[in-house]
Amino acid sequence: MMKQKGWLVTFFVIFYVLKTGLLADLPPPCDSQIYCTGDIIHEVQMQKLFEDDKHFVDMGLRDTPENTINKFKSLYTRNPMRSISRETLIEFVNTSFHEPGTEIQQWDPPDWKESPKFVSNISDSNLQKWAKDLNDLWKFLGRKIKDEVKVEPEKHSQIYVPNPLIVPGGRFREFYYWDSYWVINGLLLSEMRDTARGMIENFLYMVDKYGIIPNGGRVYYLCRSQPPFLTLMMESYMANQNNLTFLRQNIHLLAKEYDFWMNNRSVSVTLNGTDYTLNRYYVPAGGPRPEAYSADYEQAQKLAEEEKTPFYSDIKAAAESGWDFSSRWFYGPRGNLLDTKTNSVVPADLNAILCRVERILANFYTQLDMPQEASRFSAAHTQRIDAVHNVLWDDKLGVWLDYNVELQYRNPNFYPSNLAPLWASCYTNSAVVDKVVSYLEKSGALSYKNGLPTSLNNTGQQWDFPNGWAPLQHMVIEGLEKTQSAKAKEIAFKLAQKWVQVNYDAYKKYNAMYEKYDVEGDGKPGGGGEYEVQLGFGWSNGVIMQLLDLYGTRLTSSAITTSLSFLTVLFPVLITAVGIHFMQCLP
Ligand SMILES: *[C@@H]1O[C@H](CO)[C@@H](O)[C@H](O)[C@H]1NC(C)=O
Repeated sequence: MMKQKGWLVTFFVIFYVLKTGLLADLPPPCDSQIYCTGDIIHEVQMQKLFEDDKHFVDMGLRDTPENTINKFKSLYTRNPMRSISRETLIEFVNTSFHEPGTEIQQWDPPDWKESPKFVSNISDSNLQKWAKDLNDLWKFLGRKIKDEVKVEPEKHSQIYVPNPLIVPGGRFREFYYWDSYWVINGLLLSEMRDTARGMIENFLYMVDKYGIIPNGGRVYYLCRSQPPFLTLMMESYMANQNNLTFLRQNIHLLAKEYDFWMNNRSVSVTLNGTDYTLNRYYVPAGGPRPEAYSADYEQAQKLAEEEKTPFYSDIKAAAESGWDFSSRWFYGPRGNLLDTKTNSVVPADLNAILCRVERILANFYTQLDMPQEASRFSAAHTQRIDAVHNVLWDDKLGVWLDYNVELQYRNPNFYPSNLAPLWASCYTNSAVVDKVVSYLEKSGALSYKNGLPTSLNNTGQQWDFPNGWAPLQHMVIEGLEKTQSAKAKEIAFKLAQKWVQVNYDAYKKYNAMYEKYDVEGDGKPGGGGEYEVQLGFGWSNGVIMQLLDLYGTRLTSSAITTSLSFLTVLFPVLITAVGIHFMQCLP
Protein backbone atom coordinates (compact mmCIF):
# COMPACT_ATOMS: atom_id res chain seq x y z
CA MET A 1 0.00 0.00 0.00
CA MET A 2 2.72 2.44 1.08
CA LYS A 3 4.83 1.36 -1.83
CA GLN A 4 1.99 1.91 -4.26
CA LYS A 5 1.39 5.38 -2.88
CA GLY A 6 5.09 6.15 -3.20
CA TRP A 7 4.97 5.24 -6.88
CA LEU A 8 1.93 7.36 -7.39
CA VAL A 9 3.63 10.34 -5.77
CA THR A 10 6.72 9.82 -7.91
CA PHE A 11 4.56 9.58 -11.02
CA PHE A 12 2.74 12.85 -10.31
CA VAL A 13 5.95 14.61 -9.34
CA ILE A 14 7.81 13.56 -12.48
CA PHE A 15 4.77 14.32 -14.61
CA TYR A 16 4.33 17.85 -13.31
CA VAL A 17 8.03 18.64 -13.15
CA LEU A 18 8.33 17.73 -16.83
CA LYS A 19 5.23 19.69 -17.71
CA THR A 20 6.09 22.74 -15.65
CA GLY A 21 9.84 22.77 -16.14
CA LEU A 22 9.46 26.02 -18.07
CA LEU A 23 8.31 27.76 -14.90
CA ALA A 24 11.69 27.20 -13.24
CA ASP A 25 12.45 30.89 -12.90
CA LEU A 26 9.63 33.32 -12.43
CA PRO A 27 9.62 36.96 -11.34
CA PRO A 28 8.36 37.89 -7.85
CA PRO A 29 4.70 38.94 -7.37
CA CYS A 30 5.72 42.60 -7.70
CA ASP A 31 8.93 44.64 -7.92
CA SER A 32 8.75 46.20 -4.47
CA GLN A 33 11.79 45.28 -2.34
CA ILE A 34 9.64 45.99 0.70
CA TYR A 35 6.27 44.41 -0.02
CA CYS A 36 7.01 41.57 -2.43
CA THR A 37 10.60 40.39 -2.38
CA GLY A 38 13.89 40.82 -0.52
CA ASP A 39 15.23 40.30 3.02
CA ILE A 40 12.86 42.53 4.99
CA ILE A 41 9.64 40.74 4.12
CA HIS A 42 11.35 37.39 4.52
CA GLU A 43 12.62 38.17 8.05
CA VAL A 44 9.43 39.82 9.27
CA GLN A 45 7.08 37.17 7.94
CA MET A 46 9.21 34.15 8.84
CA GLN A 47 9.69 35.43 12.39
CA LYS A 48 5.89 35.81 12.46
CA LEU A 49 5.93 39.25 13.97
CA PHE A 50 2.19 39.49 13.42
CA GLU A 51 -0.58 36.95 13.74
CA ASP A 52 -1.70 37.56 10.15
CA ASP A 53 0.99 38.03 7.48
CA LYS A 54 -1.27 40.53 5.77
CA HIS A 55 -0.64 42.96 8.63
CA PHE A 56 2.96 43.68 7.66
CA VAL A 57 2.43 44.14 3.93
CA ASP A 58 -0.40 46.60 4.64
CA MET A 59 1.90 48.92 6.63
CA GLY A 60 2.91 52.20 5.00
CA LEU A 61 6.56 53.38 5.05
CA ARG A 62 7.75 56.29 7.19
CA ASP A 63 10.78 56.88 4.96
CA THR A 64 11.67 56.10 1.33
CA PRO A 65 12.09 52.44 0.31
CA GLU A 66 15.85 53.04 -0.30
CA ASN A 67 16.45 54.46 3.17
CA THR A 68 14.39 51.72 4.76
CA ILE A 69 16.34 49.02 2.93
CA ASN A 70 19.66 50.62 3.93
CA LYS A 71 18.55 50.88 7.53
CA PHE A 72 17.69 47.19 7.46
CA LYS A 73 21.05 46.30 5.89
CA SER A 74 22.82 48.10 8.72
CA LEU A 75 21.17 45.69 11.15
CA TYR A 76 22.99 42.93 9.31
CA THR A 77 26.30 44.80 9.40
CA ARG A 78 26.11 45.11 13.15
CA ASN A 79 25.39 41.43 13.19
CA PRO A 80 27.94 39.27 11.38
CA MET A 81 25.86 36.10 11.82
CA ARG A 82 23.12 37.72 9.74
CA SER A 83 20.59 36.74 12.32
CA ILE A 84 18.29 39.42 13.64
CA SER A 85 16.63 39.09 17.02
CA ARG A 86 12.90 39.47 17.38
CA GLU A 87 13.37 42.58 19.54
CA THR A 88 15.57 44.28 16.95
CA LEU A 89 13.13 43.38 14.22
CA ILE A 90 10.15 44.71 16.17
CA GLU A 91 11.97 47.96 16.78
CA PHE A 92 12.90 48.23 13.12
CA VAL A 93 9.31 47.70 12.02
CA ASN A 94 7.91 50.10 14.64
CA THR A 95 10.27 52.87 13.68
CA SER A 96 10.07 52.34 9.91
CA PHE A 97 6.38 51.62 9.27
CA HIS A 98 2.94 52.96 10.09
CA GLU A 99 0.17 50.77 11.42
CA PRO A 100 -2.10 49.32 8.68
CA GLY A 101 -5.11 51.39 7.75
CA THR A 102 -3.55 54.88 8.06
CA GLU A 103 -3.59 55.52 4.30
CA ILE A 104 -7.31 55.03 3.87
CA GLN A 105 -10.06 56.90 5.65
CA GLN A 106 -13.69 56.32 6.53
CA TRP A 107 -15.92 57.89 3.90
CA ASP A 108 -19.59 58.72 4.20
CA PRO A 109 -21.17 58.20 0.75
CA PRO A 110 -23.01 61.43 -0.12
CA ASP A 111 -25.45 59.59 -2.41
CA TRP A 112 -26.65 57.28 0.40
CA LYS A 113 -30.44 57.16 0.63
CA GLU A 114 -32.49 56.48 3.71
CA SER A 115 -35.32 54.55 2.02
CA PRO A 116 -34.45 53.05 -1.36
CA LYS A 117 -37.46 51.75 -3.26
CA PHE A 118 -36.57 48.06 -3.22
CA VAL A 119 -37.04 47.98 0.56
CA SER A 120 -40.70 48.95 0.37
CA ASN A 121 -41.41 46.03 -1.98
CA ILE A 122 -40.48 43.43 0.66
CA SER A 123 -43.57 41.85 2.20
CA ASP A 124 -42.16 40.25 5.37
CA SER A 125 -41.74 43.06 7.92
CA ASN A 126 -38.68 41.46 9.60
CA LEU A 127 -36.93 41.13 6.27
CA GLN A 128 -37.90 44.67 5.38
CA LYS A 129 -36.36 46.00 8.59
CA TRP A 130 -33.23 43.95 7.92
CA ALA A 131 -32.96 45.30 4.36
CA LYS A 132 -32.93 48.80 5.86
CA ASP A 133 -30.10 47.74 8.20
CA LEU A 134 -28.14 46.38 5.24
CA ASN A 135 -28.69 49.65 3.43
CA ASP A 136 -27.21 51.42 6.50
CA LEU A 137 -24.12 49.20 6.37
CA TRP A 138 -22.83 50.92 3.21
CA LYS A 139 -21.96 53.87 5.42
CA PHE A 140 -19.66 51.70 7.52
CA LEU A 141 -17.90 50.15 4.55
CA GLY A 142 -17.21 53.39 2.64
CA ARG A 143 -13.51 54.30 2.30
CA LYS A 144 -11.45 56.93 0.54
CA ILE A 145 -7.75 56.56 -0.24
CA LYS A 146 -5.75 59.47 1.12
CA ASP A 147 -3.88 61.81 -1.21
CA GLU A 148 -0.53 60.80 0.31
CA VAL A 149 -0.85 57.49 -1.58
CA LYS A 150 -1.15 59.39 -4.84
CA VAL A 151 1.72 61.74 -3.96
CA GLU A 152 4.16 59.09 -2.69
CA PRO A 153 2.98 55.73 -4.04
CA GLU A 154 6.35 54.10 -3.30
CA LYS A 155 5.68 54.39 0.43
CA HIS A 156 2.51 52.33 0.30
CA SER A 157 1.31 48.92 -0.74
CA GLN A 158 -2.15 50.45 -1.22
CA ILE A 159 -2.83 51.12 -4.90
CA TYR A 160 -4.17 54.60 -5.54
CA VAL A 161 -7.54 54.87 -7.27
CA PRO A 162 -9.31 58.19 -7.85
CA ASN A 163 -12.78 57.47 -6.41
CA PRO A 164 -14.01 56.42 -2.98
CA LEU A 165 -15.19 52.84 -2.68
CA ILE A 166 -16.89 50.18 -0.59
CA VAL A 167 -14.55 47.62 0.99
CA PRO A 168 -15.61 44.04 1.85
CA GLY A 169 -14.83 44.56 5.55
CA GLY A 170 -12.60 43.07 8.28
CA ARG A 171 -9.01 42.35 7.23
CA PHE A 172 -9.92 43.34 3.69
CA ARG A 173 -8.94 47.01 3.95
CA GLU A 174 -8.93 47.66 0.23
CA PHE A 175 -11.19 46.97 -2.71
CA TYR A 176 -11.45 43.46 -4.11
CA TYR A 177 -12.21 42.76 -7.71
CA TRP A 178 -14.98 40.15 -7.96
CA ASP A 179 -16.49 41.10 -4.59
CA SER A 180 -17.21 44.49 -6.08
CA TYR A 181 -19.65 43.06 -8.65
CA TRP A 182 -22.15 42.09 -5.94
CA VAL A 183 -21.37 45.25 -3.98
CA ILE A 184 -22.19 47.34 -7.08
CA ASN A 185 -25.41 45.40 -7.69
CA GLY A 186 -26.37 46.12 -4.07
CA LEU A 187 -25.41 49.80 -4.39
CA LEU A 188 -27.60 50.13 -7.48
CA LEU A 189 -30.55 48.70 -5.52
CA SER A 190 -29.72 51.21 -2.79
CA GLU A 191 -29.88 53.88 -5.52
CA MET A 192 -26.27 54.89 -4.83
CA ARG A 193 -25.47 55.29 -8.52
CA ASP A 194 -22.56 57.70 -8.09
CA THR A 195 -20.73 55.37 -5.71
CA ALA A 196 -21.36 52.43 -8.04
CA ARG A 197 -20.11 54.37 -11.03
CA GLY A 198 -17.07 55.63 -9.10
CA MET A 199 -16.08 52.07 -8.31
CA ILE A 200 -16.45 51.05 -11.95
CA GLU A 201 -14.28 54.05 -12.91
CA ASN A 202 -11.62 52.85 -10.47
CA PHE A 203 -11.47 49.50 -12.22
CA LEU A 204 -11.32 51.16 -15.63
CA TYR A 205 -8.49 53.35 -14.34
CA MET A 206 -6.52 50.24 -13.34
CA VAL A 207 -7.05 48.52 -16.69
CA ASP A 208 -5.75 51.67 -18.34
CA LYS A 209 -2.75 51.97 -16.03
CA TYR A 210 -1.71 48.36 -15.39
CA GLY A 211 -3.38 46.36 -18.18
CA ILE A 212 -4.85 44.10 -15.51
CA ILE A 213 -7.32 44.51 -12.68
CA PRO A 214 -5.46 43.19 -9.65
CA ASN A 215 -7.08 40.77 -7.20
CA GLY A 216 -7.35 43.67 -4.75
CA GLY A 217 -6.05 47.18 -4.20
CA ARG A 218 -2.46 46.35 -3.17
CA VAL A 219 0.78 46.21 -5.15
CA TYR A 220 1.35 42.65 -3.96
CA TYR A 221 -1.81 41.66 -5.90
CA LEU A 222 -0.60 43.13 -9.20
CA CYS A 223 0.52 39.81 -10.70
CA ARG A 224 -2.88 38.23 -10.37
CA SER A 225 -6.43 39.19 -11.20
CA GLN A 226 -9.74 37.71 -10.06
CA PRO A 227 -12.83 36.44 -11.92
CA PRO A 228 -13.37 39.07 -14.66
CA PHE A 229 -16.56 40.87 -13.72
CA LEU A 230 -15.77 44.40 -14.96
CA THR A 231 -17.95 44.11 -18.09
CA LEU A 232 -20.76 42.67 -15.97
CA MET A 233 -20.46 45.64 -13.60
CA MET A 234 -20.94 47.89 -16.61
CA GLU A 235 -23.90 45.73 -17.70
CA SER A 236 -25.55 46.26 -14.29
CA TYR A 237 -24.84 49.99 -14.42
CA MET A 238 -26.19 50.31 -17.96
CA ALA A 239 -29.36 48.36 -17.07
CA ASN A 240 -29.88 50.95 -14.34
CA GLN A 241 -28.71 54.13 -16.04
CA ASN A 242 -28.40 53.47 -19.78
CA ASN A 243 -25.63 56.07 -19.96
CA LEU A 244 -24.37 55.62 -23.52
CA THR A 245 -21.90 58.49 -23.22
CA PHE A 246 -20.19 56.79 -20.28
CA LEU A 247 -20.17 53.50 -22.19
CA ARG A 248 -18.71 55.12 -25.31
CA GLN A 249 -15.95 56.78 -23.30
CA ASN A 250 -14.88 53.52 -21.71
CA ILE A 251 -15.71 50.61 -23.97
CA HIS A 252 -12.09 50.41 -25.22
CA LEU A 253 -11.03 49.62 -21.65
CA LEU A 254 -13.57 46.81 -21.35
CA ALA A 255 -12.09 45.41 -24.57
CA LYS A 256 -8.57 45.92 -23.19
CA GLU A 257 -9.37 43.85 -20.11
CA TYR A 258 -10.89 41.15 -22.31
CA ASP A 259 -7.68 41.14 -24.38
CA PHE A 260 -5.61 40.65 -21.23
CA TRP A 261 -7.57 37.46 -20.52
CA MET A 262 -7.22 36.29 -24.11
CA ASN A 263 -3.51 37.15 -24.44
CA ASN A 264 -2.28 36.18 -20.98
CA ARG A 265 -4.77 33.63 -19.67
CA SER A 266 -5.79 31.47 -22.61
CA VAL A 267 -5.06 27.81 -23.13
CA SER A 268 -5.47 25.61 -26.12
CA VAL A 269 -7.16 22.24 -25.76
CA THR A 270 -7.03 19.53 -28.39
CA LEU A 271 -9.87 17.06 -28.17
CA ASN A 272 -10.79 14.43 -30.77
CA GLY A 273 -8.51 16.11 -33.27
CA THR A 274 -10.04 19.59 -32.87
CA ASP A 275 -8.32 22.59 -31.26
CA TYR A 276 -10.29 24.81 -28.90
CA THR A 277 -9.21 28.04 -27.24
CA LEU A 278 -10.45 28.49 -23.68
CA ASN A 279 -9.22 30.32 -20.60
CA ARG A 280 -7.62 29.48 -17.32
CA TYR A 281 -6.41 31.14 -14.16
CA TYR A 282 -2.67 31.35 -14.52
CA VAL A 283 -0.13 33.43 -12.64
CA PRO A 284 3.45 33.34 -13.91
CA ALA A 285 4.99 34.69 -10.70
CA GLY A 286 7.19 32.88 -8.20
CA GLY A 287 7.79 33.18 -4.48
CA PRO A 288 5.29 33.13 -1.63
CA ARG A 289 2.20 35.35 -1.70
CA PRO A 290 3.38 38.38 0.31
CA GLU A 291 0.17 38.51 2.38
CA ALA A 292 0.47 34.82 3.32
CA TYR A 293 4.24 34.57 3.06
CA SER A 294 5.09 32.25 5.94
CA ALA A 295 2.28 29.79 5.18
CA ASP A 296 3.29 29.48 1.51
CA TYR A 297 6.98 29.29 2.35
CA GLU A 298 6.44 26.55 4.92
CA GLN A 299 4.26 24.54 2.54
CA ALA A 300 6.92 24.82 -0.17
CA GLN A 301 9.57 23.40 2.16
CA LYS A 302 7.74 20.07 1.93
CA LEU A 303 8.45 19.98 -1.81
CA ALA A 304 11.48 19.15 -3.92
CA GLU A 305 13.44 22.21 -5.08
CA GLU A 306 12.16 22.09 -8.68
CA GLU A 307 8.55 21.79 -7.50
CA LYS A 308 8.61 25.00 -5.46
CA THR A 309 8.21 27.58 -8.20
CA PRO A 310 5.36 25.72 -9.92
CA PHE A 311 3.69 25.41 -6.50
CA TYR A 312 4.00 29.16 -5.79
CA SER A 313 2.55 29.87 -9.22
CA ASP A 314 -0.37 27.44 -8.85
CA ILE A 315 -1.20 28.81 -5.39
CA LYS A 316 -1.41 32.34 -6.81
CA ALA A 317 -3.57 31.10 -9.67
CA ALA A 318 -5.93 29.55 -7.08
CA ALA A 319 -6.08 32.98 -5.44
CA GLU A 320 -6.82 34.48 -8.86
CA SER A 321 -9.79 32.12 -9.22
CA GLY A 322 -11.32 33.60 -6.07
CA TRP A 323 -11.50 30.05 -4.68
CA ASP A 324 -8.54 30.21 -2.32
CA PHE A 325 -8.34 27.48 -1.36
CA SER A 326 -10.32 24.47 -2.41
CA SER A 327 -10.14 20.78 -3.19
CA ARG A 328 -11.44 21.94 -6.57
CA TRP A 329 -7.80 22.64 -7.52
CA PHE A 330 -6.30 19.52 -5.93
CA TYR A 331 -5.05 17.01 -8.46
CA GLY A 332 -2.75 14.38 -7.05
CA PRO A 333 -2.38 11.73 -4.41
CA ARG A 334 -1.75 14.02 -1.43
CA GLY A 335 -5.21 15.55 -1.61
CA ASN A 336 -4.11 18.80 0.01
CA LEU A 337 -2.75 22.27 -0.82
CA LEU A 338 0.49 20.79 -2.13
CA ASP A 339 -1.54 19.23 -4.95
CA THR A 340 -2.95 22.58 -6.07
CA LYS A 341 -2.69 22.56 -9.89
CA THR A 342 -4.81 25.54 -10.87
CA ASN A 343 -2.65 26.37 -13.89
CA SER A 344 -3.67 23.06 -15.50
CA VAL A 345 -7.40 23.56 -15.16
CA VAL A 346 -9.90 24.99 -17.66
CA PRO A 347 -12.53 26.19 -15.18
CA ALA A 348 -16.25 26.07 -15.99
CA ASP A 349 -16.97 29.36 -14.21
CA LEU A 350 -14.17 31.44 -15.78
CA ASN A 351 -15.20 30.37 -19.28
CA ALA A 352 -18.85 31.02 -18.48
CA ILE A 353 -18.02 34.54 -17.27
CA LEU A 354 -16.01 35.26 -20.44
CA CYS A 355 -18.83 33.80 -22.54
CA ARG A 356 -21.17 36.33 -20.95
CA VAL A 357 -18.57 39.10 -21.37
CA GLU A 358 -18.35 38.36 -25.10
CA ARG A 359 -22.11 38.57 -25.52
CA ILE A 360 -22.35 41.80 -23.52
CA LEU A 361 -19.52 43.41 -25.49
CA ALA A 362 -21.16 42.40 -28.78
CA ASN A 363 -24.39 44.05 -27.56
CA PHE A 364 -22.59 47.15 -26.28
CA TYR A 365 -20.79 47.66 -29.59
CA THR A 366 -24.08 47.19 -31.43
CA GLN A 367 -25.68 49.86 -29.25
CA LEU A 368 -22.76 52.16 -29.99
CA ASP A 369 -23.16 51.49 -33.68
CA MET A 370 -19.71 49.92 -34.08
CA PRO A 371 -20.60 46.85 -36.17
CA GLN A 372 -17.04 45.66 -36.82
CA GLU A 373 -16.24 45.29 -33.12
CA ALA A 374 -19.70 43.87 -32.49
CA SER A 375 -19.10 41.09 -34.98
CA ARG A 376 -15.66 40.35 -33.52
CA PHE A 377 -17.28 39.68 -30.14
CA SER A 378 -20.26 37.75 -31.47
CA ALA A 379 -17.84 35.49 -33.35
CA ALA A 380 -15.82 34.99 -30.15
CA HIS A 381 -19.07 34.24 -28.30
CA THR A 382 -20.13 31.62 -30.86
CA GLN A 383 -16.71 29.98 -30.65
CA ARG A 384 -16.84 29.99 -26.87
CA ILE A 385 -20.23 28.27 -26.77
CA ASP A 386 -18.87 25.59 -29.08
CA ALA A 387 -15.69 25.11 -27.03
CA VAL A 388 -17.54 25.09 -23.71
CA HIS A 389 -19.90 22.47 -25.06
CA ASN A 390 -17.22 20.23 -26.54
CA VAL A 391 -14.65 20.47 -23.76
CA LEU A 392 -16.63 21.10 -20.56
CA TRP A 393 -20.10 19.58 -21.08
CA ASP A 394 -20.42 16.07 -19.66
CA ASP A 395 -23.48 14.45 -21.17
CA LYS A 396 -23.46 11.48 -18.80
CA LEU A 397 -23.61 13.65 -15.68
CA GLY A 398 -25.69 16.30 -17.41
CA VAL A 399 -23.57 19.29 -16.40
CA TRP A 400 -20.40 21.22 -17.26
CA LEU A 401 -17.18 20.27 -15.49
CA ASP A 402 -13.69 21.70 -15.06
CA TYR A 403 -11.23 20.13 -17.50
CA ASN A 404 -7.62 19.34 -16.57
CA VAL A 405 -5.49 19.82 -19.70
CA GLU A 406 -2.49 17.92 -18.35
CA LEU A 407 -4.41 14.86 -17.22
CA GLN A 408 -6.99 15.25 -20.03
CA TYR A 409 -9.70 14.62 -17.53
CA ARG A 410 -12.97 16.25 -16.41
CA ASN A 411 -13.36 16.68 -12.67
CA PRO A 412 -16.64 14.89 -11.82
CA ASN A 413 -17.07 16.36 -8.32
CA PHE A 414 -19.89 18.71 -7.41
CA TYR A 415 -19.14 22.45 -7.31
CA PRO A 416 -21.69 25.24 -7.79
CA SER A 417 -19.30 26.54 -10.47
CA ASN A 418 -20.33 23.57 -12.62
CA LEU A 419 -23.60 25.43 -13.23
CA ALA A 420 -21.95 28.71 -14.26
CA PRO A 421 -22.57 28.16 -18.01
CA LEU A 422 -26.30 27.96 -17.21
CA TRP A 423 -26.04 31.34 -15.42
CA ALA A 424 -24.14 32.77 -18.40
CA SER A 425 -26.63 31.26 -20.91
CA CYS A 426 -23.54 29.79 -22.57
CA TYR A 427 -25.38 27.06 -24.48
CA THR A 428 -27.57 26.77 -27.56
CA ASN A 429 -29.52 23.58 -26.90
CA SER A 430 -32.16 24.22 -24.22
CA ALA A 431 -32.33 20.47 -23.54
CA VAL A 432 -29.39 21.06 -21.17
CA VAL A 433 -31.70 22.76 -18.65
CA ASP A 434 -33.60 19.61 -17.62
CA LYS A 435 -30.35 17.66 -17.49
CA VAL A 436 -28.73 20.23 -15.21
CA VAL A 437 -31.78 20.26 -12.91
CA SER A 438 -31.67 16.50 -12.65
CA TYR A 439 -27.88 16.62 -12.04
CA LEU A 440 -28.45 19.08 -9.23
CA GLU A 441 -31.12 16.88 -7.64
CA LYS A 442 -28.95 13.77 -7.84
CA SER A 443 -25.82 15.54 -6.60
CA GLY A 444 -27.03 15.68 -2.99
CA ALA A 445 -26.12 19.38 -2.85
CA LEU A 446 -29.77 20.44 -2.44
CA SER A 447 -30.16 18.53 0.81
CA TYR A 448 -28.49 21.12 3.06
CA LYS A 449 -30.58 23.33 5.27
CA ASN A 450 -28.80 26.62 4.61
CA GLY A 451 -28.00 26.63 0.92
CA LEU A 452 -25.58 25.18 -1.57
CA PRO A 453 -22.25 23.93 -0.21
CA THR A 454 -19.10 24.96 -2.11
CA SER A 455 -18.20 21.29 -2.56
CA LEU A 456 -19.12 18.01 -0.88
CA ASN A 457 -15.59 17.60 0.37
CA ASN A 458 -14.72 18.64 3.94
CA THR A 459 -11.02 19.52 3.69
CA GLY A 460 -10.84 22.38 6.19
CA GLN A 461 -10.29 24.76 3.26
CA GLN A 462 -12.68 27.68 3.13
CA TRP A 463 -13.91 27.02 -0.43
CA ASP A 464 -15.14 23.55 0.46
CA PHE A 465 -17.83 21.89 2.54
CA PRO A 466 -19.53 23.01 4.79
CA ASN A 467 -19.12 26.63 3.70
CA GLY A 468 -21.60 28.41 1.50
CA TRP A 469 -20.61 31.64 -0.27
CA ALA A 470 -22.91 34.43 -1.41
CA PRO A 471 -21.63 34.80 -5.00
CA LEU A 472 -22.03 31.08 -5.70
CA GLN A 473 -25.60 31.01 -4.33
CA HIS A 474 -26.41 34.02 -6.46
CA MET A 475 -24.98 32.61 -9.69
CA VAL A 476 -26.82 29.31 -9.32
CA ILE A 477 -30.11 30.95 -8.29
CA GLU A 478 -29.97 33.45 -11.14
CA GLY A 479 -29.03 30.68 -13.59
CA LEU A 480 -32.01 28.50 -12.62
CA GLU A 481 -34.40 31.44 -12.40
CA LYS A 482 -33.68 32.68 -15.93
CA THR A 483 -34.57 29.33 -17.57
CA GLN A 484 -38.04 28.47 -18.88
CA SER A 485 -38.31 25.49 -16.54
CA ALA A 486 -40.85 25.74 -13.69
CA LYS A 487 -38.94 23.11 -11.75
CA ALA A 488 -35.67 25.04 -12.10
CA LYS A 489 -37.38 28.22 -10.95
CA GLU A 490 -38.82 26.47 -7.92
CA ILE A 491 -35.37 25.15 -6.92
CA ALA A 492 -34.01 28.68 -7.38
CA PHE A 493 -36.60 30.09 -4.99
CA LYS A 494 -35.99 27.37 -2.39
CA LEU A 495 -32.23 28.04 -2.51
CA ALA A 496 -32.89 31.76 -2.12
CA GLN A 497 -35.13 31.12 0.89
CA LYS A 498 -32.46 28.96 2.52
CA TRP A 499 -29.72 31.52 1.97
CA VAL A 500 -31.82 34.44 3.19
CA GLN A 501 -32.74 32.36 6.25
CA VAL A 502 -29.16 31.55 7.29
CA ASN A 503 -27.98 35.13 6.73
CA TYR A 504 -30.97 36.45 8.67
CA ASP A 505 -30.67 33.98 11.56
CA ALA A 506 -26.95 34.73 11.97
CA TYR A 507 -27.70 38.46 11.78
CA LYS A 508 -30.29 38.17 14.55
CA LYS A 509 -27.86 36.24 16.70
CA TYR A 510 -24.61 38.13 16.14
CA ASN A 511 -25.81 41.42 14.70
CA ALA A 512 -23.36 41.05 11.81
CA MET A 513 -23.07 39.99 8.20
CA TYR A 514 -20.31 37.51 7.38
CA GLU A 515 -18.25 36.70 4.31
CA LYS A 516 -19.41 33.04 4.34
CA TYR A 517 -21.91 30.81 6.15
CA ASP A 518 -22.19 27.22 7.30
CA VAL A 519 -24.73 25.29 5.19
CA GLU A 520 -25.44 23.13 8.22
CA GLY A 521 -26.61 24.08 11.71
CA ASP A 522 -28.81 26.91 12.90
CA GLY A 523 -27.35 30.00 11.30
CA LYS A 524 -23.64 30.54 11.86
CA PRO A 525 -20.72 31.90 9.88
CA GLY A 526 -18.41 29.55 8.01
CA GLY A 527 -14.86 28.67 9.02
CA GLY A 528 -11.68 27.01 7.80
CA GLY A 529 -8.96 28.42 5.59
CA GLU A 530 -6.05 30.64 6.50
CA TYR A 531 -7.68 33.47 8.45
CA GLU A 532 -10.59 34.10 10.87
CA VAL A 533 -14.04 34.61 9.36
CA GLN A 534 -14.54 38.28 8.47
CA LEU A 535 -17.47 40.63 9.14
CA GLY A 536 -18.87 43.35 6.95
CA PHE A 537 -19.53 42.06 4.43
CA GLY A 538 -19.78 43.53 0.95
CA TRP A 539 -20.89 40.67 -1.25
CA SER A 540 -23.09 38.99 1.36
CA ASN A 541 -25.02 42.25 1.75
CA GLY A 542 -25.24 42.76 -2.01
CA VAL A 543 -26.53 39.24 -2.68
CA ILE A 544 -29.17 39.42 0.07
CA MET A 545 -30.39 42.71 -1.38
CA GLN A 546 -30.65 41.14 -4.83
CA LEU A 547 -32.57 38.13 -3.50
CA LEU A 548 -34.90 40.38 -1.49
CA ASP A 549 -35.45 42.41 -4.62
CA LEU A 550 -36.11 39.36 -6.79
CA TYR A 551 -38.39 37.43 -4.41
CA GLY A 552 -39.46 40.19 -2.05
CA THR A 553 -43.10 39.16 -1.97
CA ARG A 554 -42.43 35.47 -1.31
CA LEU A 555 -39.47 35.25 1.07
CA THR A 556 -40.13 34.88 4.79
CA SER A 557 -38.10 35.28 7.95
CA SER A 558 -40.31 32.86 9.81
CA ALA A 559 -38.85 29.35 9.54
CA ILE A 560 -37.71 29.62 13.18
CA THR A 561 -40.99 31.07 14.42
CA THR A 562 -42.85 28.34 12.56
CA SER A 563 -40.95 25.60 14.34
CA LEU A 564 -41.37 27.46 17.64
CA SER A 565 -45.12 27.82 17.23
CA PHE A 566 -45.19 24.17 16.29
CA LEU A 567 -43.53 23.43 19.67
CA THR A 568 -45.99 25.60 21.57
CA VAL A 569 -48.79 23.47 20.13
CA LEU A 570 -46.94 20.22 20.63
CA PHE A 571 -45.90 20.93 24.21
CA PRO A 572 -49.38 21.04 25.88
CA VAL A 573 -50.34 17.94 23.89
CA LEU A 574 -47.30 16.12 25.24
CA ILE A 575 -47.95 17.27 28.82
CA THR A 576 -51.54 16.10 28.57
CA ALA A 577 -50.48 12.76 27.11
CA VAL A 578 -47.92 12.22 29.85
CA GLY A 579 -50.51 13.25 32.46
CA ILE A 580 -53.08 10.79 31.13
CA HIS A 581 -50.44 8.08 31.06
CA PHE A 582 -49.55 8.72 34.72
CA MET A 583 -53.17 8.84 35.76
CA GLN A 584 -53.68 5.48 34.14
CA CYS A 585 -50.71 4.09 36.10
CA LEU A 586 -52.12 5.26 39.41
CA PRO A 587 -53.52 2.47 41.53
C1 LIG B 1 0.85 39.68 -20.78
O1 LIG B 1 1.84 38.91 -21.43
C2 LIG B 1 2.83 39.67 -22.08
C3 LIG B 1 3.69 38.75 -22.89
O2 LIG B 1 4.11 37.67 -22.14
C4 LIG B 1 3.62 40.46 -21.06
O3 LIG B 1 4.62 41.23 -21.64
C5 LIG B 1 2.65 41.37 -20.32
O4 LIG B 1 3.31 42.04 -19.27
C6 LIG B 1 1.49 40.57 -19.73
N1 LIG B 1 0.52 41.49 -19.22
C7 LIG B 1 0.19 41.56 -17.92
C8 LIG B 1 -0.74 42.65 -17.56
O5 LIG B 1 0.59 40.77 -17.09
